[in-house]
Amino acid sequence: MGPPAQQRREYLEALGIETWVPRGAAPPTAAAPAPPAPPAAAAGTTAPAARAPAAPPPPGAAAAPLWEALRAEVLGCTRCPLHLTRTQGVFGVGPRRSDWLVVGEAPGAEEDRRGEPFVGAAGQLLDAMLRAIGLDRATNVYIANILKSRPPNNRDPRPEEVAACMPYLTRQIALLKPKIILAVGRIAAQNLLATEAPLGRLRGAVHHFGELKTPLVVTYHPAYLLRTPAEKRKAWEDLKFARNVYQQLTQVAATDGHRT
Ligand code: URA
Repeated sequence: MGPPAQQRREYLEALGIETWVPRGAAPPTAAAPAPPAPPAAAAGTTAPAARAPAAPPPPGAAAAPLWEALRAEVLGCTRCPLHLTRTQGVFGVGPRRSDWLVVGEAPGAEEDRRGEPFVGAAGQLLDAMLRAIGLDRATNVYIANILKSRPPNNRDPRPEEVAACMPYLTRQIALLKPKIILAVGRIAAQNLLATEAPLGRLRGAVHHFGELKTPLVVTYHPAYLLRTPAEKRKAWEDLKFARNVYQQLTQVAATDGHRT
């Protein structure tokens, strides 16, 4: 379940968007619910251990060492000169079973200091945008960047830096297997889609990433929205569009599940 209408209005107000949510509109569907907790072992159970079926590993457990190895590689990476000026690599944040992946550009000063993506002013706006469609980095969305190291003075990433760093994001995506990717900003969109098309032309369509053809939707970077608040309304259109894409594809998956 997403946030109730009143709460959503508050989020939109936090984005600086005047709200018009129709009365009685269904709340947005949040991303995948948390997996059901394994049944607690009953106290005093006497069933012999030998007969108890082996507990299946928790979903995603097999991938945990791969995630940890990848994270260690990123934190120790020296593939490009940005390692000389960064404080630390910024890997990614969020549950590793999230249906949603948000991809930004590169860490800024605050991210470089704290080691987490989108924790500065743009990050606060991103969090508000995501909450407006029922997403939260603590529960159901993974957030990462094209570059894992901060470019000095927040300049644009250079092609050779992107070439060195993109394989890390590609591996994160292969492990996460998100159902949908939201690319925020031109740098993320153009590099994920291998295009030079301007952001305005990439918005409002479902693109696809990689061999799994993961649906990918594009919107403005929150730092741009902070500088250009008049565009926030368009970003809200993009978010609703992405939410609809996600809802449709999860409904299709549920229907397919019924058929098999
Ligand atoms: N901008 C980005 O693109 N990523 C961050 O992590 C922070 C700001």
